[in-house]
Amino acid sequence: MSMRGKTIVVGVSGGIAAYKACEAVRLLVQAGATVQVVLTRAAEEFVTPLTLQALSGRPVARRTFDLTEESEIGHIRIADTADALLIAPATANVIAKLATGIADDLLTTVVLATRAPVLVAPAMNVHMWENATVQANVARLRDAGHVVIEPASGALACGYEGAGRLPEPDVLVEEVAVAVTEKTLAGRRVLVTAGPTWEALDPVRHVANRSSGKMGFAVARAARRRGARVTLVTGPTALADLRGVECVHVTSAREMEKAALHHAAAADCVVMAAAVGDYRPLEAARHKIKRGRGDLEIRLTPNPDILAKIGALPGQRVIVGFAAETRDLVANARRKLQAKGVHLMVANDVTAPDAGFDVDTNIVTLIDRSGRVERFEKMSKDEVAGVILDRVRDLRTPRTTVRAAPRRLRRR
Ligand SMILES: Cc1cc2nc3c(=O)[nH]c(=O)nc-3n(C[C@H](O)[C@H](O)[C@H](O)COP(=O)(O)O)c2cc1C
Repeated sequence: MSMRGKTIVVGVSGGIAAYKACEAVRLLVQAGATVQVVLTRAAEEFVTPLTLQALSGRPVARRTFDLTEESEIGHIRIADTADALLIAPATANVIAKLATGIADDLLTTVVLATRAPVLVAPAMNVHMWENATVQANVARLRDAGHVVIEPASGALACGYEGAGRLPEPDVLVEEVAVAVTEKTLAGRRVLVTAGPTWEALDPVRHVANRSSGKMGFAVARAARRRGARVTLVTGPTALADLRGVECVHVTSAREMEKAALHHAAAADCVVMAAAVGDYRPLEAARHKIKRGRGDLEIRLTPNPDILAKIGALPGQRVIVGFAAETRDLVANARRKLQAKGVHLMVANDVTAPDAGFDVDTNIVTLIDRSGRVERFEKMSKDEVAGVILDRVRDLRTPRTTVRAAPRRLRRR
């Protein structure tokens, strides 16, 4: 994910989870963002300005009335330059101040002065979180249009169990990415398939492939950032479910067929990134197959062609297929595109280093119906997802159900 050109203000208030803000700042800088940290006085009891200055590469802003700070990075300048403002962790105290418009320190003053989206990530003891006043204040923040990143549940630093944990830094950064991404797919429904399929041989074995699901998950994440309502139908992977995405878990190709056809009917766009097994064992043994002396023969039968079935569905939708090839990349992908009613084919040579299965990068060639062939250099799978969704936007079908972005989603 690139946040190049974006300025993110990270406000850190005085909670025990302030240490996680350090990692969030590091990840934002790694993603290319300019990060301006604002610390409350209480936050300095938990993390040092030096740590955050070193991680952000910029002086940390702390005091409203410091003559040097105010002239160099004054509160209005911080507020105006922000593309998004993330408060993590947000204490019960800072939430109460924001809910009532109190601006008695630099962070709360910047929040009042900014027009950028404000994301608030509360973190506190479970009893504090469940306190009626805190909940009322959180509701007021939502009403004011701030994004509240719900705390996670689990073991808390105070020794209690329950809701109140600050979500992990990568989750916070993903929410910032959502806030700063242009909503080019607002109101659109996107179905993405991902991962391998497993075809049972017996109760303990299966026929599978090496797909990790990373490419499909990257497309689903990118579509959500662009404002789409996303359903992800995924085969078995080691990846965590995506926030804000409806995740449907399947195992076999036939299960994937059922789920994909069901969700494709309402989709404006379908991206079929799953590596669906072409064949499955004709019969799955009821009991574990025992070791024998001779060869074991397994008869395979073809699986349904999900891409072709989606291409044949009534109604209009943009269909993107993937072609994992080991030779004759463009010719094979073009054949697949023509045979299956696909608008855009993403072809990759899965034998190339740093491309295809299980790695974080891919080297793709895009082929569309007009015959245009576009070859790309090695990119991260997040970047490939961005390129695909840019093309999806251009390939929009003239569907009458396309809705404009809901007004309240539009900020500024
Ligand atoms: C050890 C310790 C841990 C604390 N952890 C939290 C916390 O996780 N969440 C919270 O809302 N307040 C926590 N507090 C209380 C806040 O630090 C206190 O309310 C402070 O006034 C917050 O100031 P600020 O909101 O300006 O940063 C903690 C206090 C101490 C001493």
